[in-house]
Amino acid sequence: MTRELTAAAKINLGLRILGTRPDGYHAIRSVFHEITLADAIVIRTAPGGGDVRLSCPGSELPADSSNLAWKAAAAFLGATGLAIDVSIELRKRIPLLAGLGGGSSDAAAVLRGLEDATGAGADLAGLAASIGSDVPFFLRGGSALVEGRGERITPLPAIPFHAVLLHPPVRVSTPWAYAEWDRRAASLTEGGPAEHDCPLSAAWHEGKPFPHGLRNDFLPLLEDRFPEIAALARFLKGSCGTWGLSGSGPTLYALFPTGARARQFSEDLPGGVRFTLCRSAEAAGASSNR
Ligand code: C5P
Repeated sequence: MTRELTAAAKINLGLRILGTRPDGYHAIRSVFHEITLADAIVIRTAPGGGDVRLSCPGSELPADSSNLAWKAAAAFLGATGLAIDVSIELRKRIPLLAGLGGGSSDAAAVLRGLEDATGAGADLAGLAASIGSDVPFFLRGGSALVEGRGERITPLPAIPFHAVLLHPPVRVSTPWAYAEWDRRAASLTEGGPAEHDCPLSAAWHEGKPFPHGLRNDFLPLLEDRFPEIAALARFLKGSCGTWGLSGSGPTLYALFPTGARARQFSEDLPGGVRFTLCRSAEAAGASSNR
């Protein structure tokens, strides 16, 4: 059986870190929003003994058991006990270690694809949470308030926007970013929780403030450590109204109501800044595999 899947990236429309949990993870509150930038995945199943094979043509991503797509297939076979082999071809378009959730989205797509291809029932939400904190969101995608460690998902109406993703030339380790927050939490906790419950509407398109607070608690930490991020954040502050940092970075984004304004903004970026133009995935169900 063959399944062709799309695994979309996300951006975080604000991200607050609320504290450390007894399990060592952090409690967060964030609005995740799927975007049209996506990886392409082909899954093939055949009768067999439970082998998982993965290839990532053209990518530096390891195609081994450390890959979240591989882990997802192994977890699904372990939970269902199915006597099949799974082969996965993963064509990466989402940048690696970028704060865009690419690996987590691949894992969720593999879980959904295998459930669809085999018809076997499994606790996908539980499997997703065991693979990574951001994986549960991608089982449904779209737009959602994400809380807890990442497993508490409250769907929200999608917001139509056009985004310019900015890619500073640095890599940020998520465990490092959380450890840095731990070290400096005392100076970062003022300000209260993220605005997350504003009704979404076309208001932003009519010139009213964007419906989500875009404050990301990782940003001050990254600005201090990476001059490249600090410089881009300064540029965004001065040149665009609606912008933010995705996840634990390093990707920054600027949002616009129309594609024409997003393109214009990208043309005016300082020389050498790498960027990607994309759109919000406007409704769960937008991706081809849902
Ligand atoms: O769950 P995941 O493997 O994606 O998390 C990577 C690392 O990020 C964890 O080992 C932990 O250090 C940190 N993390 C956290 N709190 C979260 C999510 C991730 O501390 N809610």
